[in-house]
Amino acid sequence: MVTVRAPGKVILYGEHAVVYGEPALAMAIDKYVYVTARVRGDNKINITAMDLRLVGVSVTILENGDIVAKTDYGAVISALSYVKRALELAMEYVGEKKGVDLVIRSEMPVGAGLGTSAAVSVGTILAYIRALGYDIEKRDLARLAWQVEKDVQGAASPTDTAMATFGGVMYIKPEGSDVTMEPVKPGAEVPLIIGYIPRTATTKELVAMVRRKYETMREIIEPIIRTIGLITRRGREALERGDLELMGALMNINHGLLDSLGVSTRQLNEIVYAARNAGALGSKLTGAGGGGCMIALSDKADVKRAIELMGGYVLSARLDNEGAKVISEE
Ligand code: PMV
Repeated sequence: MVTVRAPGKVILYGEHAVVYGEPALAMAIDKYVYVTARVRGDNKINITAMDLRLVGVSVTILENGDIVAKTDYGAVISALSYVKRALELAMEYVGEKKGVDLVIRSEMPVGAGLGTSAAVSVGTILAYIRALGYDIEKRDLARLAWQVEKDVQGAASPTDTAMATFGGVMYIKPEGSDVTMEPVKPGAEVPLIIGYIPRTATTKELVAMVRRKYETMREIIEPIIRTIGLITRRGREALERGDLELMGALMNINHGLLDSLGVSTRQLNEIVYAARNAGALGSKLTGAGGGGCMIALSDKADVKRAIELMGGYVLSARLDNEGAKVISEE
């Protein structure tokens, strides 16, 4: 029996602008998806998913590939298609096919932009391969998990799966149709409070909405996107120097520009401002927007309370430097 964990991530700066070739800065957080795998004597795959979107659900994938679940929770079922594809690719990778009992648990809400589907994919591949007695290098793990995301979603950026695999902070640079990632070393601890509210739009819809604005008002939108790119570059330098004050100020400007692109919501803005008023050094939405998550640069209880008072669900997070790792093997 093997248990592994894989971290989630937040985007510190640069979401949406990264779609237009600007850099983004992502940080792996110490909130994890845990996957326990026990190889079975037959070919059956049994998945018990706990706390995926804060509900528990027990599911069986039959040998013909059908999924039988005792829930109708859409997000959970969609997380399970990642598990199914991750197992298929892991079986191909080791050239062996055995049934498995998997228990998956998440400390993060699913579908909020924290990269849980990537952490589920990375965790499933690593746990299954190790339970069979094989090993996999991180480069291959990131590549397979990215393939899972591409197969399930049609298209996917490699960011979330790289963050769940390697951890740390990464400077993401789009180069044509490619993306490269540079590890960044923070000069200080970065305390984050993450606020979460339900989402009203998908990432795909929000990216398309920004694209329409870009096409119809290019001379207005283009400079906003370029300025976000500049914020990301300065944000990286501030992080490397450990200048949390400047990081916070840049987060605030980044949020204002994201709001001007139309990807924030009234409730998200209320939470972002409540966190600042309660003493956060800075705050912004993180990820695609339309509800979902915001981050506040702070570890103050007052900031957590302010977010909760505005109806947000709160997680505290720090940097994860390890990425995917085996935490127990029996
Ligand atoms: O929801 P997330 O954290 O995966 O963020 C999406 C980031 C966008 O820039 C909006 C889209 C993208 O593919 O980069």
